[in-house]
Amino acid sequence: MSKEVEEEITSVLHENRLFKPASDFSKQAHIKSRAAYTRLYKKAEKDPEGFWGDLAKSELHWFKPWKKVLHWKPPFAKWFVGGTTNVAYNCLDRHLEGPRKNKAAIIWEGERGDSRTLTYQDLHREVSKFSNVLKSKGVKKGDRVAIYMPMIPELAIAMLACARIGATHSIIFGGFSAAALRDRINDAEAKLVVTADGGYRKGGVITLKDKVDEALEEAPSVESMIVVKRTENDVVMKVGRDFWWTDLMKGASADCKATALDSEHPLFILYTSGTTGKPKGVVHTTGGYLLSATVTSKWIFDLKEEDTYWCTADIGWVTGHSYIIYGMLSNGVSSLMYEGVPTYPDPGRFWEIIEKYRVNIFYTAPTAIRALSKLGKQWPKKYDLSSLRLLGTVGEPINPEAWMWYHKVIGGGKCPIVDTWWQTETGAIMLSPLPGAIATKPGSATLPFPGISADVVNKAGKSVPANVGGYLVITRPWPSMLRTVWRNPKRYKETYWSDIPGVYFSGDGARKDKDGYFWIMGRVDDVMNVSGHRLGTMEVESALVSHAKVSEAAVVGAPDEIKGTAIFAFVTLESGQTANDALKKTLKTHVTKEIGAIARPDQIRFTDNLPKTRSGKIMRRLLRDIAAGRESIGDTSTLEDYTVLAKLRDDDEA
Ligand code: WTA
Repeated sequence: MSKEVEEEITSVLHENRLFKPASDFSKQAHIKSRAAYTRLYKKAEKDPEGFWGDLAKSELHWFKPWKKVLHWKPPFAKWFVGGTTNVAYNCLDRHLEGPRKNKAAIIWEGERGDSRTLTYQDLHREVSKFSNVLKSKGVKKGDRVAIYMPMIPELAIAMLACARIGATHSIIFGGFSAAALRDRINDAEAKLVVTADGGYRKGGVITLKDKVDEALEEAPSVESMIVVKRTENDVVMKVGRDFWWTDLMKGASADCKATALDSEHPLFILYTSGTTGKPKGVVHTTGGYLLSATVTSKWIFDLKEEDTYWCTADIGWVTGHSYIIYGMLSNGVSSLMYEGVPTYPDPGRFWEIIEKYRVNIFYTAPTAIRALSKLGKQWPKKYDLSSLRLLGTVGEPINPEAWMWYHKVIGGGKCPIVDTWWQTETGAIMLSPLPGAIATKPGSATLPFPGISADVVNKAGKSVPANVGGYLVITRPWPSMLRTVWRNPKRYKETYWSDIPGVYFSGDGARKDKDGYFWIMGRVDDVMNVSGHRLGTMEVESALVSHAKVSEAAVVGAPDEIKGTAIFAFVTLESGQTANDALKKTLKTHVTKEIGAIARPDQIRFTDNLPKTRSGKIMRRLLRDIAAGRESIGDTSTLEDYTVLAKLRDDDEA
């Protein structure tokens, strides 16, 4: 347990406010009481395969039934073995047979206030057409398609079209740089890229196609690129390789049957940061993933036919995959998708959209709540938020103060809040209140979802007592668990199943209180959580060291009121280089170019030496203390201070 985690544990121990579900909410909820939750939980614990098998039957359409619910050869799992299904069929086709045919599937709001609504029938038609477009470009079942797009409906269409024909999509967040995009395309060996000329963000244009052009200079697997026209900025179309979306769609047939795919067919790869410099391609498959996404959506967000649901995440992250698209459309919900940022053209934007579409369920990140709460309640007060009935958070621990603001100012004191803990790797929510059943405590993700076996353990894998910090682990396989790291099963095994014997280790620290509620303390490895986005310290270090003037770099997270974690870089320069502010700026820009703006260091400090142990390991804890201002090191930041501190620590440890 790191020092920060210990401090955090003590700091939240005093939080004992309890919010019970209101009886009128519970009455209409899917899971209506604590007793009902406990019944489900126990049933699943006793017979997990029976529990998930029943749900797979009732919640999903299968072309061919499975022979066996789970094949578990630790740490490799197969769910619904022998069954065939199709994610796009479950998200679209099955809704066309009933009254959902002309119901809004995606309600889209552009940053500039333009909007579009696609009914289930519209979306089905567009997806079918784009499936044929992909086929016409030679994309076959099992091929990878990279998607690098702004938050526009075509992004949803592209991913669902891949799912329809069994192409595995790899969506790369539009904020990543050309270099980061290239590495991800190459690792997945994508055959085709779908992109746009650009997207709108904070009133400006973010160009995308030019970044793909740059990436493709060193990405030999890509044969073609399909480009959506969104921002109308100038782009260069390479003849024979690049095609306009509308040109291809014009001639495409709207008739494309969904392919029956094996339950274990890879649906998508999503790259996420780990503790090395190289992001991991997390692989999710078809049947199990969709089942978890579908059931968690329904019970945690308590979905009802008439709900308008809005998740503010970008589809480039796992939250957008599972809780804007797959989990929601599978349930036949109207899912709102917004292109822009919360503060454009003013800090009332989120609240204006809630009023405009009479949003009922709202799911966002603590970082957004903190930022918006700082701007004052006059912004939400300008809008009618009375349509809201349920609120959610994801991505990082929410501090009780931000939770209370969300509860009172946004939820008007009447909406339950579901604080949902999960990861790219888990595919779906693992810990969360069920809003009609579980009393909430500000700052706690409460209890495991039925069918999920979670625990807090020590390094040896032994459960720790109540209120003692430890490692958050999942002790049994679950349907939406990652199956492997793309083409690297060894890394999969080492990263997730080796540190603690026999269980999946999340990389997070946590404690359970006396009521069994989980309190997440954040990462215990070298992964930072910056504004809810995961970033490896090593990734930022590699980017810094790739600059000619840099000899060595150490990156740590520092507490930040809004972002949760700020990026703090200690940099040693090559001999003969001068440390100055201009170089700091250059290095920040360099990291933006190598990874993307999300990785741009907030602070850079030059030092002639990094504090290291005798074995040469960088003493990160010491650097974290310095970054957080926890150690009084005076107002200087020269070599001597660090070496002195380093030597002291070295002596301590010797
Ligand atoms: C953190 C996002 C506290 C955690 C879905 C995890 C959280 C990482 C919560 C995964 C939460 C996510 N409370 N921390 N409710 N939700 N995290 O892969 O550290 O982008 O390991 O998935 O975010 O981030 P990822």
